[in-house]
Amino acid sequence: MTVALIVAAGSGERLRAGQPKALVELAGRPLVQWSIDALQALDSLERIVVALPPGVPAPAGVTAVEGGAVRSDSVRRALAAAGACELVLVQDAARPLLTPELAGAVIAALEADAEADAAIAAVPVTDTIKAVDVLGAVSETLDRSRLWAVQTPQVFRRSALERALAVDPEQLAQATDDAWLVERAGGRVIVVPASDENLKVTTPMDLRMAELLIQARLRQRP
Ligand code: C5P
Repeated sequence: MTVALIVAAGSGERLRAGQPKALVELAGRPLVQWSIDALQALDSLERIVVALPPGVPAPAGVTAVEGGAVRSDSVRRALAAAGACELVLVQDAARPLLTPELAGAVIAALEADAEADAAIAAVPVTDTIKAVDVLGAVSETLDRSRLWAVQTPQVFRRSALERALAVDPEQLAQATDDAWLVERAGGRVIVVPASDENLKVTTPMDLRMAELLIQARLRQRP
């Protein structure tokens, strides 16, 4: 059994929309609704739990909880409302171009690998990535052939995610994704090739890109 958690409690300051990012309108609906719709199209999910900013009403058909101060805290709060399940799918509401096919592929990859603790959507990096020191000088050019840019959905064995989240608040605050916490706890995380269309909405330009991609998808629908 799989439960999905959507973290949607961020303030979205970098979007400069004057309201929580999850509520920003994208192609006529709140940003968070696109992830809910994609996950509701999957038959295999037991429940969807959404972590929302305080005071935001629950969307239809999901369990809502109040999010925490940092992303991993929102994941922890949503997990506490998940009920019984073996697998947990974590989705950022900031990725509205999620498809049911990608969510299904990430779940299937974890189910197929008994040794893995988590499976995560990711794409090979196309830019050259350099590490830069505090004075602005390059300290290292990383080997691009081994680099993947990580997205959500990320799917975990529940026990592994619970163990990974049981760390002190400083480590929770540092985590930009949950897989990192599982890696730190010695877990095995596998990547599932995804699409760069599954972009993350952070800036006003990302929102414009997402709008164009969603409108194109809507036009393609029969
Ligand atoms: O801040 P960042 O872009 O990493 O946020 C990724 C996702 O985590 C977003 O969907 C955001 O709503 C969510 N989040 C959350 N609770 C927080 C911070 C971020 O649910 N306290």
